[in-house]
Amino acid sequence: MMRTFAMAFSIMAASVASASASAPALARAAAPVLPARPGATLRVAFDQRAPRPGVRLLELTRTRDGWRGQLTSDWYGTMPMRNIVRDGDTVRFDVRNINTPGQPVRRWTATLTPSGVLLTGGIWFSEVRQTGKPVGAARAAALAHHAVALPALGTIAPDGLAATPPMGWSSWNKFAERIDDRTIRAIADAMVSSGLRDAGYRYVNIDDGWQGERGADGELRPNAKFPDMRALADYVHARGLKLGLYSSPGLKTCAGYTGSYGHVAQDARTFARWGVDYLKYDLCSGEWQYDDADRVRRSYYEMGAALKATGRAIVYSLCEYGRFEVADWGRAVGGHLWRTTGDITDDYAKMSEIGFVRNPRFAHAGPGGWNDPDMLEIGNGGMSDDEYRTHMTLWAMSAAPLMMGHDVRTTSPAALALLSHRAVIAIDQDAAGVQGKAVRVAGAQEVWAKRLADGAVAIALFNRGDRPVEMRVTAADAGFARFSALRDLWRDADLPPAGTTFTVPAHGTVLLRAAGERP
Ligand code: GLA
Repeated sequence: MMRTFAMAFSIMAASVASASASAPALARAAAPVLPARPGATLRVAFDQRAPRPGVRLLELTRTRDGWRGQLTSDWYGTMPMRNIVRDGDTVRFDVRNINTPGQPVRRWTATLTPSGVLLTGGIWFSEVRQTGKPVGAARAAALAHHAVALPALGTIAPDGLAATPPMGWSSWNKFAERIDDRTIRAIADAMVSSGLRDAGYRYVNIDDGWQGERGADGELRPNAKFPDMRALADYVHARGLKLGLYSSPGLKTCAGYTGSYGHVAQDARTFARWGVDYLKYDLCSGEWQYDDADRVRRSYYEMGAALKATGRAIVYSLCEYGRFEVADWGRAVGGHLWRTTGDITDDYAKMSEIGFVRNPRFAHAGPGGWNDPDMLEIGNGGMSDDEYRTHMTLWAMSAAPLMMGHDVRTTSPAALALLSHRAVIAIDQDAAGVQGKAVRVAGAQEVWAKRLADGAVAIALFNRGDRPVEMRVTAADAGFARFSALRDLWRDADLPPAGTTFTVPAHGTVLLRAAGERP
């Protein structure tokens, strides 16, 4: 399965300082030799690493009838070698490859040179070319990956959180890793002063890039840009807002920071102690270990159960890009929302593909558990006002979580008008929690309906084409015999309750609230 990371290349080489061989050990290192007798092993440590997967250790053992071996990587842990063949001073082998359709394995080589072992290979978009030095068994043991078993799958009971789709802000779309304590505080302030908090946006979510290293006690520390997470949570809470954080079940997060692998319960306790109210848990490097439905599910259950065990009310956001029909099991592992897609980008093509095509494939949205087509791009500048109005309308009609993704400190009046329109937010937040769907599609014209708790129906007319069109709404679109009331929500205007024709701009929308009589 293919997906993209928005900003996945900034890997922190410093995060693996423990792998550096000491200088005297290097000086003493012998030239590499392939083991000659069965049972003997060549161990090679790599100080300089390609960003991903970041191989730190190669182990190659002579067996009675050939070879066996493995690589150890910062991202994926143990990567077994297959089909190992010796060819003079070069050993060739296959390693499993991920995320490249049609290329489930790639051929690697390890070549003995006077200056060490040259390792070449590749995985996904990363080409590997690293030279390492032979090391002894003790050093290799220190570099080894320690696999951790997943718990058996359990079921987490509903807890009443996220009765309507969560609303807030997340740092990723606008800031990626360029975040710090001061910026997050300023965003919280701006959410209050702009009125967006009072329009319903409550979560201030720090996405990837806040993590530092683990201490000797295994405790995950924030990095230097976040000197005191508890104090930051207090600041956010004092403004009537809630704080969200981000982690991964893998060894590394998507941007290369420390993941929760091997420390799931400990991290959940840390987050609860800091006063965190929301956790986005992003599969990232965990896709190597958790590569089938059972393991992905158990890895998300593991954190779901760990969050529950803290006793703190924490909204749990699953981010595994819609793999393995996550909507079918997201709630049972404790999830309150689950991503149905890869990453959104700030353009109409991607936004509309996600909103019209991808997200509607998933079922089971409703109070307590929501399909998440990713965060909003409104205010980031890549779409026209009509396109952003479509973005907001489509997300509201889909009962999608509304996580703003722009710099709230500089919200334009146009973006503010779209994001804070009370009647549109009310469609998203409607207590019935129905995910609206297309009821009539003709070429680029789509009519969507969403049943509301009071018996009314929200109707959206979408023009996906690139010229304005006339679109007519009929009572049948809402399942009514006739309309008794009709209101244009974006225009804040009541309309005559007869069927009406609208001029819908290119990539634009009209959003109506209709009351009527059932046939
Ligand atoms: C993945 C997620 C994004 C964001 C980044 C952070 O790509 O899908 O939403 O969290 O990781 O690295």
